[in-house]
Amino acid sequence: MADLQNILTEEKEGVLYLTVNREEKMNALNFATLEEIKGIFEEAEDNKSIKAVIITGAGEKSFIAGADISEIASLNEVNARKFAENGQEIFAMIENCHKPVIAVTNGYTLGGGCELAMACHIRIATANAKFGQPEVNLGIIPGYGGTQRLTMLIGRGKANELMMTGDMIGAEEAKSLGLVNHVLPTKAEAIDKAEEIISKIMSKAPLAIGMIIDCVNAAFLSDENGYQTEANSFARCVKSGDYKEGTSAFLEKRKPVFKGE
Ligand code: COA
Repeated sequence: MADLQNILTEEKEGVLYLTVNREEKMNALNFATLEEIKGIFEEAEDNKSIKAVIITGAGEKSFIAGADISEIASLNEVNARKFAENGQEIFAMIENCHKPVIAVTNGYTLGGGCELAMACHIRIATANAKFGQPEVNLGIIPGYGGTQRLTMLIGRGKANELMMTGDMIGAEEAKSLGLVNHVLPTKAEAIDKAEEIISKIMSKAPLAIGMIIDCVNAAFLSDENGYQTEANSFARCVKSGDYKEGTSAFLEKRKPVFKGE
């Protein structure tokens, strides 16, 4: 990984651990941190040794408490649009990454932090996690895709309420709304859960996993017919060695060994 100032990375058994490391600022996302996330995902997509990514925030108090307010306090209309488009582009890279990306969120998961978590494929929260889109308190709205992804994840009425009130909700409520997949008591247990899920996913055919990500994302794109994407992806699967391996292994009553090709 290139020289990083705001992110800690570690690669272990095929999993890239990405930790936003601005604990003194509640891990708020400044421009530099966003750029580092972009570089990491550019590399993760192409690096064959990386099979999955887990994103966390440093410390126990906060996953990410939003975009860095000191940087957004003096925007004008032109650079505000760029600010939003840049964040949207980087979060779309996470969402479109062909390897599973899991957010493990503890403590404050607010604004851009909630938006980043929503761009991940799966979210696991600790019991102390608090979710919210408090931008309205600053006279702005979510700009990194939050208005769209929150609506897709929890539905129109609840998304409107959360964004219009700026209220925070706890982990169990977030789970009941479908905003998070699992809630675990501590960060260590939440990371264990993420690793357990990843290890299961890593035993499956990697090309098929990438195509599931494409097809699920296609369900939310108005300019793409998701059924068509699914049929095309299904057809591409059967060209792979993993398809032959998976079907043969079933018929031969043995465990498949997938190679991602
Ligand atoms: N941007 C920049 N700095 C932030 C930040 C953000 N989004 N969130 C927290 N910080 C900084 C605080 O300014 C403070 O820095 P300082 O010690 O140099 O003054 C430090 O992180 C600790 O935050 P503090 O507010 O003292 O902690 P707290 O426990 O009292 O409150 C929060 C925690 C998260 C509730 C509160 O910091 C907050 O409301 N943050 C803003 C959340 C937000 O509006 N996010 C959306 C941004 S678009």
